[in-house]
Amino acid sequence: MTQSSVGKLLAIETSCDETAAAVMAVDKKGVRILSNTVASQILLHRKTLGVVPEIASRAHTEKILAVLEQALRDSKTTLQDIGVVAVTYGPGLVGSLLVGSETAKAIAYARGIPLIAINHLGGHCFSAFAEKKSPVQAGGQILISNIKKSLPALALIVSGGHTELVVIRNMFNYRIVGRTVDDAAGEAFDKIARLLGLPYPGGPAIEAAASKPLATDPWILTTKLPRPMIDSGDFNFSFAGLKTAALYQVRALKKLSKHQQAAFARETQQAIVDVLASKTYRAALQFKVKSVLLAGGVSANKLLRQTLAQKIKQLGLPFHIAPQQLTTDNAAMIGLAGGLRYLAGKTTNWYDVKVNPNAKLDM
Ligand code: KG4
Ligand code: ZN
Repeated sequence: MTQSSVGKLLAIETSCDETAAAVMAVDKKGVRILSNTVASQILLHRKTLGVVPEIASRAHTEKILAVLEQALRDSKTTLQDIGVVAVTYGPGLVGSLLVGSETAKAIAYARGIPLIAINHLGGHCFSAFAEKKSPVQAGGQILISNIKKSLPALALIVSGGHTELVVIRNMFNYRIVGRTVDDAAGEAFDKIARLLGLPYPGGPAIEAAASKPLATDPWILTTKLPRPMIDSGDFNFSFAGLKTAALYQVRALKKLSKHQQAAFARETQQAIVDVLASKTYRAALQFKVKSVLLAGGVSANKLLRQTLAQKIKQLGLPFHIAPQQLTTDNAAMIGLAGGLRYLAGKTTNWYDVKVNPNAKLDM
């Protein structure tokens, strides 16, 4: 595969609790998703109400080859057609990252092809540029020309481990302008869901509980939950206090009724969305960006998508959001970022790739 020709890229993502592989078509104009396979470990981790790293890495080891085969099969591709491999090097759980990176290295080594190390958060960011209108059922395509005209952009990245506001100046240059000082937004959803007796992962469970139609006699919280740091004047976030505030109220109630559970779910979701939307709006104003994008697992949340879309519309700016199937962890987002790096000539050799569980955002 030469830099200007059409070629195929294999992407692998195993940073947390999804074993994922995707095949992409790369040409000079951009990157297109041909297949996107995800084997979720959610049911495994539901038993422990969260991810146990050792169990996660073992499950990745068991699943990775079958997931790879499926991604190749769905895209009608064989390993011989693959010209470059992209893999997540961090951030994430070290044992989980190693399964994906060692698999990717083995393929790159055996085939003598380049390997591209991709930052998980950078992958989430680029997934917001994926266009939905592509005929590919797996998720869409990215055109470099579209990205370029959207930059500089402000990205809100909200996942289980990260909450960051980032100004993307050009395709591989960014500046973090705000981040959480304690828990991430997804972590707040997960921890509060646990308090409320809702299953893992907490975000979708809280969203579902919050959107249940109200029966008679709805229950109302005695005290609203806080909107931490909403008027702090900077672009940092804090979500640990939200969990503590919920904890005190839940404890005072002993056993929660369904109405109480729904009321807490609605208020939790609203508090998190209020803070995220308010800070993103102000940052978009301050940094004079050309567009705003929303990415990461929490971007699956409908209230967040709608609220932010409305606010950004008031600014007259385009709002980019990942197609629903690319919001939570997947390999297509790693493939999109990998294809763009490949086109920019940023490739590496397999022996230079090292996992980094604490990797900082990189594009
Ligand atoms: O990006 P992601 O799949 O994995 C990480 O990189 O962390 O994000 C997972 C996080 C979890 O905390 C999960 O509860 C949250 O995203 N999440 C949601 C929704 N779907 C997933 N949070 C709120 N509403 C959702 N619908
Ligand atoms: Zn993620």
